Amino acid sequence: MAWESAFGTLTWIINCTNVAQAYPARKRTYVIDGVRKNGWFALDFTKDELQSVILTQAIWSRTRRFDSVGYSILSVTDLLSIVKQPSVWLNVQHDTFYKEHGLNMRNYILSIQKRVSVDYISSPELGFLQNISGTVRGKIKLVFSFLDKSLLDHSINQTYGSLLSNLTLIKSIASGIMVPKTYIWPVTKDNYLQPSTSIVAEAHNAGLEIYASDFANDRIIPYNYSYDPLAEYLNFISDGGFSVDGVLSEHPFTASEAIGCLASLNSSKTDHGEPLVISHNGTVRTWPTIVQLMMAQMSLIVLFK
Ligand SMILES: *[C@@H]1O[C@H](CO)[C@@H](O)[C@H](O)[C@H]1NC(C)=O
Ligand SMILES: *[C@@H]1O[C@H](CO)[C@@H](O)[C@H](O)[C@H]1NC(C)=O
Ligand SMILES: *[C@@H]1O[C@H](CO)[C@@H](O)[C@H](O)[C@H]1NC(C)=O
Ligand SMILES: *[C@@H]1O[C@H](CO)[C@@H](O)[C@H](O)[C@H]1NC(C)=O
Ligand SMILES: *[C@@H]1O[C@H](CO)[C@@H](O)[C@H](O)[C@H]1NC(C)=O
Ligand SMILES: *[C@@H]1O[C@H](CO)[C@@H](O)[C@H](O)[C@H]1NC(C)=O
Repeated sequence: MAWESAFGTLTWIINCTNVAQAYPARKRTYVIDGVRKNGWFALDFTKDELQSVILTQAIWSRTRRFDSVGYSILSVTDLLSIVKQPSVWLNVQHDTFYKEHGLNMRNYILSIQKRVSVDYISSPELGFLQNISGTVRGKIKLVFSFLDKSLLDHSINQTYGSLLSNLTLIKSIASGIMVPKTYIWPVTKDNYLQPSTSIVAEAHNAGLEIYASDFANDRIIPYNYSYDPLAEYLNFISDGGFSVDGVLSEHPFTASEAIGCLASLNSSKTDHGEPLVISHNGTVRTWPTIVQLMMAQMSLIVLFK
């Protein structure tokens, strides 16, 4: 299953490709969610033009050994050429922005639906999920992605903080939520863990699946974990009396190791069963098979199903 972000993080394509070298004159400025951004934007390019653009490492402290391999930007339907029956997790990050520029994500998704089996659609814009829910519900799981609590979801003019107190509203539209990990285990200013919130239980009580995001091995994780990323995953899946339904990680092997080798998941609980590892590359592997080669900057969803 693939986390396909062609229209998500790649909206603003400067920092993860060589587009600046390939098209030096195509720099533009746009306002996205109220913030001015300079750079190179996917909507200014045709797909053919993007064929000469290759993906590079966006986080410069990480290895650059994949930069010269020549991975190109794929469309969702291109997945069919690298995996036989890809099932896809599509993230639509900026529907409002695209709408302002005459592009319709809803029609795009409907147009690819016959060729690609999309299993999940996530978005931080509840208005977008609401718009497509009538059309796709039942076949596709919709997941509402929370951003920082103080930020506004421009599609419905409410902050993520206020939406958090209305899970009933979200359940009427989506079947799951994705939250930054600090929503579950808040952190003090000096980087120590605070007691967990009750969000996982609240989401499950509301009938929502819950996924945690922002995992990576090379960030300064809270000191309580003693610099051990495995300990951090375990705190979300088998400790504290709750378990999230999946994690979005930039280092999926570590997530897989935590889940497959170290977690003592209680399989009699309905919250989770056989874990499924879902990679950016479109490979679905039922645990314990390890995910295949990941590009250094790829994110991966690990679902516990
Ligand atoms: C969804 O948005 C489209 C325009 O993109 C609009 O025509 C349609 O009426 C909307 N549907 C719902 C259910 O809001
Ligand atoms: C949100 O607020 C802005 C500015 O007040 C307005 O233009 C827009 O129509 C509102 N959107 C919704 C979905 O209410
Ligand atoms: C949840 O949202 C719905 C729809 O906007 C609203 O009618 C309801 O009052 C809200 N509930 C709470 C507890 O805020
Ligand atoms: C994290 O460590 C600090 C310092 O030892 C401690 O006060 C705090 O209770 C710990 N947090 C949790 C959730 O155990
Ligand atoms: C597993 O979960 C079930 C139901 O919540 C509980 O009755 C059982 O004691 C648990 N088993 C272990 C080993 O924790
Ligand atoms: C995806 O996985 C296949 C093996 O299934 C591998 O041959 C290919 O190079 C991988 N592609 C990327 C972009 O990692």
